[in-house]
Amino acid sequence: MKIGIVGSGYVGTTVAACLADFGHDVINVDVDESVVRRLNEGESPISEPGLDDLLDRHAGESLWATTDYEDLATADVVILALPTPANDDGSIDTAYVEAGAESLGAVLPDFESPPTVVVKSTVLPGTTEDVIRPALERESGLRAGEDFSVAVNPEFLREGSAVEDFRNPDKLVFGTADDRALDALEAVYAPLIEDVPVVRTGPREAAMIKYANNAFLATKVSLVNELGNICKEYGVDAYEVADAIGLDDRIGERFLRSGVGWGGSCFPKDLAALVAAARETGYEPALLQAAIDVNDRQPRRMLDLLDDHVDVEGERVAVLGLAFKPGTDDVRNSRAIPIIEGLQERGAEVIAYDPNRGAVDEMRERFPDVEYLASASPTLSGARAALVVTDWPAFADLDLEFDLMSGDVVIDGRRIIERRDGITYEGLTW
Ligand code: UGA
Repeated sequence: MKIGIVGSGYVGTTVAACLADFGHDVINVDVDESVVRRLNEGESPISEPGLDDLLDRHAGESLWATTDYEDLATADVVILALPTPANDDGSIDTAYVEAGAESLGAVLPDFESPPTVVVKSTVLPGTTEDVIRPALERESGLRAGEDFSVAVNPEFLREGSAVEDFRNPDKLVFGTADDRALDALEAVYAPLIEDVPVVRTGPREAAMIKYANNAFLATKVSLVNELGNICKEYGVDAYEVADAIGLDDRIGERFLRSGVGWGGSCFPKDLAALVAAARETGYEPALLQAAIDVNDRQPRRMLDLLDDHVDVEGERVAVLGLAFKPGTDDVRNSRAIPIIEGLQERGAEVIAYDPNRGAVDEMRERFPDVEYLASASPTLSGARAALVVTDWPAFADLDLEFDLMSGDVVIDGRRIIERRDGITYEGLTW
């Protein structure tokens, strides 16, 4: 099958490489010439485990990139994988997907056979019908459902395990309005269909499933954070409680790690968008707003715990972890951001370390006056206190490094540091 993919970000590149690995012929379109060149040389524009290997095998063979939409004309399916970033009010900015749909629409009349356009970008119910489909029809002069089809097929890939998640998904969601679109998606995912539950539904439902999935998971973490905060007040270990409730099938053991909260490019953006969209309809989403509020509060609680032990004005304070979670270089909405801001407000001298160089470079752009060191030892050396923000597995091995500190306060936001003699250890929810 010939598949075009518009957009070479984290989703587009991962999907392109994985579909090429399924045996499809994949053409990736991106407006950025340097990204296109790198892809054709087998170099990934993003860092994801397993991706370099896939590109190494398929780039220049069954996967190639172009800046020219006309190269898509032989495709049976074109997947839109463009970003839908947040506007200031939390609503999604559909300008990129609309522009992509317009460029694609302009070449649709040249297609050899009627294609299916698959929306993989995270969009609200209605965006496909009100923005994307009209752009395709406007620019092509063709009619959706007749001359081409449109489908919604959200992704549930996690950063840091996107390739693995693509190959072993919990589910596939096919949101279609006609048989051509459904047949096309069945063919795209043929190698998975036998073993993976497939949800065949409408385009609006498919769009909502993506938001509901992220809203549920983020709210689950906020709920466990709220319970954890109460546990801490009672001197109860929230992780023991979480392990126990996780044994109930109806609750499940995953996404029960309490601490400094959720970040990244998805949960914060998608919850904000769903809240804004619900308000537009006149519905007040009280629980989702509470999930956001609890999440905003966790870094403040971490700083409060620090204040209980030490006044950090004029003191060196170590921040361990800058990425929003381990295994990624992404610092978008990382909980390290409010932590560093809070420390700077208190007049502390912030020294930071993250095992991922990309995460450090990103954070340096945002906080140029923080000192970034190359490993944990010099970061902790001379620090009055340390705050652990990301659960990088390597942090679990830290031990004697804490003896290099000038103070002894260690506040752990992720339950990754072992409590031991010689440090004043505070867990956020335990
Ligand atoms: C999330 C979803 O898990 C994916 O299914 C979805 O496809 C993706 O968003 C997206 O919409 O593109 P991701 O943002 O990569 O994936 O990260 P997660 O692994 O879900 O973690 C999100 C945040 O929750 C992290 O900051 C993590 O530290 C935090 N978290 C997660 C907790 O605080 N506790 C937990 O128990 C689990």
